Amino acid sequence: MSHSQPPSSAPKHALPSYLRPDALGPWGIYLEQVDRVTPYLGSLARWVETLKRPKRSLIVDVPIELDNGTIAHFEGYRVQHNTSRGPGKGGVRFHQDVTLSEVMALSAWMSVKNAAVNVPYGGAKGGVRVDPRLLSGAELERLTRRYTSEINIIIGPNKDIPAPDVNTNEQVMAWMMDTYSQNSGSTATGVVTGKPISLGGSLGRREATGRGVFVVGTEAARNLGVEIKGARVVVQGFGNVGSVAARLFHDAGAHVIAVQDHKGVVYAPGGLDIPALITHVAQNGSVAGFSAESLPADQFWQLDCEFLIPAALEGQITKDNAPHIRARMVIEGANGPTTPEADDILRERNILVAPDVIANAGGVTVSYFEWVQDFSSFFWTEEEINQRLVRIMQEAFRAIWQVAQDNHVTLRTAAFIVACTRILQAREMRGLYP
Ligand SMILES: NC(=O)c1ccc[n+]([C@@H]2O[C@H](COP(=O)([O-])OP(=O)(O)OC[C@H]3O[C@@H](n4cnc5c(N)ncnc54)[C@H](O)[C@@H]3O)[C@@H](O)[C@H]2O)c1
Repeated sequence: MSHSQPPSSAPKHALPSYLRPDALGPWGIYLEQVDRVTPYLGSLARWVETLKRPKRSLIVDVPIELDNGTIAHFEGYRVQHNTSRGPGKGGVRFHQDVTLSEVMALSAWMSVKNAAVNVPYGGAKGGVRVDPRLLSGAELERLTRRYTSEINIIIGPNKDIPAPDVNTNEQVMAWMMDTYSQNSGSTATGVVTGKPISLGGSLGRREATGRGVFVVGTEAARNLGVEIKGARVVVQGFGNVGSVAARLFHDAGAHVIAVQDHKGVVYAPGGLDIPALITHVAQNGSVAGFSAESLPADQFWQLDCEFLIPAALEGQITKDNAPHIRARMVIEGANGPTTPEADDILRERNILVAPDVIANAGGVTVSYFEWVQDFSSFFWTEEEINQRLVRIMQEAFRAIWQVAQDNHVTLRTAAFIVACTRILQAREMRGLYP
């Protein structure tokens, strides 16, 4: 992780005993974002501590037998940050650097995101500290099933609904759905979203997050008077989110001039052949080796462009590279890619940031459609899904834009104002039990 430094304001928070104040990680970033919104919450600010404590954090041991006969143990988490507005909802990440702090922050960003686009969910997230590239297919299946079984007690179609995130996909969701169903004695398609179409998945779900990034990018560009056709786009991360966003920008006539993934950077000043790059990554697992120029990582962040789309991991845009970014706008496909210090630098430099909690909300929006379709066992066309997605994303973005204008705040703070108000209104109306 590239951001183990605590943010400067971290010590002022009352922290749970299970976090180290000197290594708050992404949770520290989230706390700072909550501080920034608090002055705008009016009388609801009385409830703000609710947002600074996850409702429920489960840490599990995930033992599996490896193909060579040895036993390996992995640490897994499921955190439900807030369920005031509905069941928990958020992805599951398999990555060797996953920490409790990271999963807590990601779960909190899900609470904010779900409220920002007004889908009826709270926020949750899960993860396993594992490098899945080192596992065989059979080992990955055993890991997924054991992890699901361990968190089985707190998930369910009405309780908490996982979905894919970094290094998890439709197959992993199918195994999770099957494991939960085996444990509960009946097929429960609604327990996860992002499933294969043949198992109650939704058309359009795989592309939904990238499509949402494109919709938000288009709206932001319109407000700034930037044309998509001919615009230069730089993308970090070429997985589910980055590749779909890149393809949609490419299809709309933009030039995707550089893509970075975990193996390197490919660069073509006149625009990369994105369909060919997608095929290359499907065959080779990374952009490395694609026929284009390569660039050192520091030069990647300094490229002159209209759109910079971080779509990999969090903590990528920091006080170190933010002063050198030469994009007109940053559209956050990844969760938490920009630190608060970098946010301030970008604002001073008049670089618009469309924050993760709105820019990458397309995935959870179509996850919501999938969940609704599963409950009714009635499935919509891809056209209906995309139309509804675009409408929800446009309306949410426009409302947040207006709040930002009215209050002279960044889009991130505006999104937090809209979302935290909704969450805390629900909290207040429900009241504290007992
Ligand atoms: N999949 C979704 O529906 C969804 C929804 C909302 C937000 N997100 C967020 O989007 C981001 C990407 O998710 P995804 O589903 O596309 O994951 P993915 O696993 O499909 O792809 C991740 C990409 O990031 C790249 N990457 C990893 N480490 C990197 C590094 N150090 N430097 C540069 N590139 C690196 C990988 O090579 C890969 O191309 C994550 O932050 C995730 O939380 C995903």
